[in-house]
Amino acid sequence: MGSIEQTPVVSDISLPAHIPESNQTPSSAPTNKLFSLGGRTIAITGGGRGLGITLASAVLEAGGHAACIDILPEPSATEWAALQKLAKSSKLSISYHKCDITSEEDISKCLDEIAEAGTAANAPLTGTIACAGIQQKVPAVEYPIDGFRRIMDVNVTGTFLTIKHTARIFIKEGTKGSVVMIASMSGQVANRGLTCSAYNTSKAAVQQMCRSVAQEWGQYGIRVNTLSPGYIRTAMTDELLTAEPEVEKTWMAGALLGRLGAPEDFKAPAVFLLADGSSFMTGADLRVDGGHCASA
Ligand SMILES: NC(=O)c1ccc[n+]([C@@H]2O[C@H](COP(=O)([O-])OP(=O)(O)OC[C@H]3O[C@@H](n4cnc5c(N)ncnc54)[C@H](O)[C@@H]3O)[C@@H](O)[C@H]2O)c1
Repeated sequence: MGSIEQTPVVSDISLPAHIPESNQTPSSAPTNKLFSLGGRTIAITGGGRGLGITLASAVLEAGGHAACIDILPEPSATEWAALQKLAKSSKLSISYHKCDITSEEDISKCLDEIAEAGTAANAPLTGTIACAGIQQKVPAVEYPIDGFRRIMDVNVTGTFLTIKHTARIFIKEGTKGSVVMIASMSGQVANRGLTCSAYNTSKAAVQQMCRSVAQEWGQYGIRVNTLSPGYIRTAMTDELLTAEPEVEKTWMAGALLGRLGAPEDFKAPAVFLLADGSSFMTGADLRVDGGHCASA
């Protein structure tokens, strides 16, 4: 390892003077409660469409309040109308916040507002799903530097800023919260036929970011895990499959269950990682890929 640069820590969070040996206790709650998000608020970046908006519905269905954050001016109309209906019938809240996760000022302010509203509604912020991400398919030898940097900025730096400010809120409030980052199986394997070097690199970085911050934040009872999907049909992949329909054949060749994923396949895994059922799990990756990585 080379020389380590040390920046003096400027922090307005008062850290506990004594770090308890263990501040997480095993839950004695019945199993159905281990999957409940009742009385909690969960923030979801990328919650304007695709996987993120589906995970917001999972949060509501598990009894939690959902706060969606996205760069889009408005969330997808049909899904949002369904979410509002679900929230109303369950007496839960759903909110939408336009925010670019690559701006530290904006994401920090946005998460603070969500946390304040949660506390006021007696449903504190206890979890964040960092789901916002972008994809680009360009051969590595032709990759324009701006494109490569943009992928890193959103998928790595934006994800880091999201979880950094979530953790600051948790530490300040003494919340033993859960952070879930949406990585990808592409953080572990290079997808055959896809020229996505920047994206794959960014998702491997998210998986290592998870382990790095998990070892820093476990002392506060904060858990951090990644959820790594295989191929899912969303706006992100539809664009690619419309342009290059033959790619679907390559993807299906590795689909052990004979189908690609749907956003709904990730509802239960995400709720599990947010809720108390996973209280002994941190620094881990939960790969949900229809078996794709199990065979060559
Ligand atoms: N679709 C797949 O096959 C697949 C597979 C593995 C992992 N993933 C991951 O799942 C996540 C969701 O992907 P998706 O398929 O739903 O794609 P999507 O493009 O439908 O959704 C991504 C969302 O992130 C938002 N976003 C992008 N940049 C942002 C920024 N700077 N600030 C705030 N929001 C921003 C977009 O507006 C969009 O709503 C991504 O992290 C993606 O890498 C997707």
